[in-house]
Amino acid sequence: MGSRRRFLIQSFLGAIATGFGFKYGFGSVTYSDPNYPQKSEVTSPVIISTWSHGLAANQAAWNVVSSGGSALDAVERGVNVSEADPEVSSVGYGGLPDASGNVTLDACIMGPDGNAGAVAFLKHIMHPVSVARKVMENTPHLMLAGDGALKFALDQGFKKVNLLTPEARKAFKAWKRSGARYAPMANWENHDTIGLLAIDQKGDLAGACTTSGMAFKHPGRVGDSPIIGAGLFVDNKIGGATATGEGEVVMKTLGSFLIVELMRNGMHPQEACEAAIYRLTETTHVHKNMQIGYIAVNKNGEHGAFSLRPGFQYAVFENGQNELLDTAFLMDWE
Ligand code: GLY
Repeated sequence: MGSRRRFLIQSFLGAIATGFGFKYGFGSVTYSDPNYPQKSEVTSPVIISTWSHGLAANQAAWNVVSSGGSALDAVERGVNVSEADPEVSSVGYGGLPDASGNVTLDACIMGPDGNAGAVAFLKHIMHPVSVARKVMENTPHLMLAGDGALKFALDQGFKKVNLLTPEARKAFKAWKRSGARYAPMANWENHDTIGLLAIDQKGDLAGACTTSGMAFKHPGRVGDSPIIGAGLFVDNKIGGATATGEGEVVMKTLGSFLIVELMRNGMHPQEACEAAIYRLTETTHVHKNMQIGYIAVNKNGEHGAFSLRPGFQYAVFENGQNELLDTAFLMDWE
């Protein structure tokens, strides 16, 4: 075991021993402070999001909250930027296609009232998160998928577009020429899903998560990003969390829900992200290409992030400053 890995595990175990009256990982959680984190108040908005493409998304979200707009509008406008950016090859327009050459999108959104909407396996629509919001607001359902989601989007006035850019088509052809080996990848070129969490001037929280999923995935494959509790979870009394990386593992461990529950029980967002990464190593075979990253913010505006492997970054906009932060990680690439 590398020294860094040892250090991070030790620091995590130390936190368990000393912090918040927790016993973690053995099936028992001792409730510590029922008022945490409702005690203090956020004095100004906070936006956090995954990866370097989060910087531009944060700016759009900040523009909403700094002019008095809602966290829900902010998260939608924020991730809309990545969805429309042809250079982001893991989200929306410009996303790498599945193994049959189709770009298929997953997204969800969750607001301060606990309501949520999602779309999965959606084709031809530039802004899946905006369709997810319409599912939340205009239907009694939480998620629509595939052709039904497309029909709903068109009925709601969204336009059908070709999401496959020339660059993505080129990458797909290169993959076919190289033998089309089935090895779907999250964290392609060191970026992936955008998850974005916002606190507005009223102190309300919302989140959004949107992706084109793993490059060259099996047609029909849906990842964690549209699954409430896996790719995203928000509780307006506690905080929010969102995930990036290999969705299968995030779904099996309900990572975002877990992080919010750990914050509910007293953990700082940083510790909660570390605990969720550690948890997945207890139950999952960690293969050599696996990357998972979590970010979280609590009701006080404190935030944190942690990843399984090096390379994950998150963008933070607070106190008028937008910056990209490296995250700590559990283990080196093998
Ligand atoms: N986290 C994105 C996916 O697995 O689809």
